[in-house]
Amino acid sequence: MPRIIYCYVELILSLECRWWIIRFNQPLPQMLELRTQALQLLSISDPFIKGPSVLALRKDFEAGQVQLDPQSVLTEEGVEIPGRPATPILVNPGLVKRRSMASKEGRAVLIHALAHIEFNAINLALDAIWRFPNMPNDYYQDWLKVAAEEAYHFDLLNTYLQSQGFQYGDFPAHNSLWEMVSKTTDSILARMALVPRTMESRGLDALPPIQEKLAQAHDHEAVALLQIILNDEIGHVEIGNRWFNYLCEQNKLDPIVAYADLVKKYDAPKLRGPFNYAARKAAGFTDAELTALHITQTH
Ligand SMILES: [Fe+2]
Repeated sequence: MPRIIYCYVELILSLECRWWIIRFNQPLPQMLELRTQALQLLSISDPFIKGPSVLALRKDFEAGQVQLDPQSVLTEEGVEIPGRPATPILVNPGLVKRRSMASKEGRAVLIHALAHIEFNAINLALDAIWRFPNMPNDYYQDWLKVAAEEAYHFDLLNTYLQSQGFQYGDFPAHNSLWEMVSKTTDSILARMALVPRTMESRGLDALPPIQEKLAQAHDHEAVALLQIILNDEIGHVEIGNRWFNYLCEQNKLDPIVAYADLVKKYDAPKLRGPFNYAARKAAGFTDAELTALHITQTH
């Protein structure tokens, strides 16, 4: 090969090499990861930052700007969870006062208690995302949806409180929901059984009678807010049911037997009626489960 052509080829090859080096040595722009972000957002203590951050995370995830790594095993080491504000002061459930729905303050106390549940519910959905690896992608997407809807509920209730001259943190609250989250950090099966399908399902039973009392007090705005929440909560319990049944199937467990065993093992509260059977059926409880519930109510 004539020397001039040889040099030309060498030059082209060297430029090509340089192009590859430049192209592949360039650090790729780092994409955020959903489960790592969920842990970060869980540690945020200000509810007015946490809620909008969750909504933004869902939007970015749906736009393909946040990736998902279901395999990584994350640790809470060095991260304080759950992040929560200095108020409300947490007290024993028996010490949370109930007041008459006839007064503005009485209704605010009730709505405050629900806002606190919603704040904890944002946290529990974020915890379900980061803590448990190796689930199908839909699992993480479902719980991100729950986290975003709980953030919306919290905002609805706090906006109501502010319109009445109050805000989140003004009254004491209890922490039963988060305590059950803490008890079930070692088992996703127990978490699905005892948090969404036990603790959160109680909301399906509790909300209609509360709505009736609020209607009697002519607080139709609060009744309407609780209807939005009730409709969404059916979906959240359904998500819990779906993943509980998935895990039972994977582990060859009978869902009714497994649930009873988990209630015993984790000392979960026994459900007491009256039950909202229609909402529970819509949330995916089977006829056999509803019959078992009916038996506990009548015995
Ligand atoms: Fe909610």
